[in-house]
Amino acid sequence: MEIPTIDFSELNGDKRGDTMALLHKACEQGFFMVENHEIETRLMEKVKQLINRYYEENLKESFYQSETAKRLEKQENASDIDWESSFFIWHRPTSSINQIPNISQELCLAMDEYVEQLLRLGEKLSELMSENLGLEKDYMKKAFSGSDGPAVGTKVAKYPECPRPELVRGLREHTDAGGIILLLQDDQVPGLEFFKDGKWVKIPPSKNNAIFVNTGDQVEVLSNGSYKSVRHRVMPHKNGSRISIATFYNPIPEAIISPAPKLLYPSNFLYGDYLKLYSSTKFGEKGPRFESMKNMTNGHDNNNVLA
Ligand SMILES: [Fe+2]
Repeated sequence: MEIPTIDFSELNGDKRGDTMALLHKACEQGFFMVENHEIETRLMEKVKQLINRYYEENLKESFYQSETAKRLEKQENASDIDWESSFFIWHRPTSSINQIPNISQELCLAMDEYVEQLLRLGEKLSELMSENLGLEKDYMKKAFSGSDGPAVGTKVAKYPECPRPELVRGLREHTDAGGIILLLQDDQVPGLEFFKDGKWVKIPPSKNNAIFVNTGDQVEVLSNGSYKSVRHRVMPHKNGSRISIATFYNPIPEAIISPAPKLLYPSNFLYGDYLKLYSSTKFGEKGPRFESMKNMTNGHDNNNVLA
């Protein structure tokens, strides 16, 4: 299956309409690639290189000595574990990067700069998704934000070389809890798979530093089910370890999430009221009729409801 690819350089010219339509379909499907996103290549390469070095120097040895690794050696059933070495960094509203043990100043700076640029892409995507849903441009951002904007964090992961890949998953099947997930991943080692139409679709390694995007559970709720949060997993490999740097553009924990009212059908109306409206609008489109019913049930337009 072809993974939909959104070329961000085409959002400002003649092809904007086509690109927006492609993005809408891609969000309905729940995952896609973004090219020409304006995040600097040298920065992406640097972040990957420094994280690979951090893993080699700080995490690799302890991973292979961990219970997880030992269970595989003993060839025990390992269906309840993930063959993964990971850590989490918060960026917004407050950065936790300095709390990562042994992290170099160089990696902190590169990561901060990368996330700053990536956040612009996340925000832009939230605007384009809102627009495509027929909502105000800043709808999603506002729904996710506190006084300091949305919550932004990164899960940094390596999927180490695995001697028995048939016994374990790199990361077990799940959907993501949050909003928009922006993934900078390995350009060589595959492993990520998304479930689509009854089959696992292999997401290829990212060439040219394309960012892989998927939508999380809160986007599915906010869009009233138009945009999907899709199950995915990571398969481990015998040859080669895979890097995965997944940044989350998420609601803050205090955000109150619900489907955007504009996307909902009218509800809690009297069928008699509907029939009254229907008698004068029968030969028109039903869409405007539903809108009128929504206004009525909100108490804007109908004395009976308020009486
Ligand atoms: Fe995930």
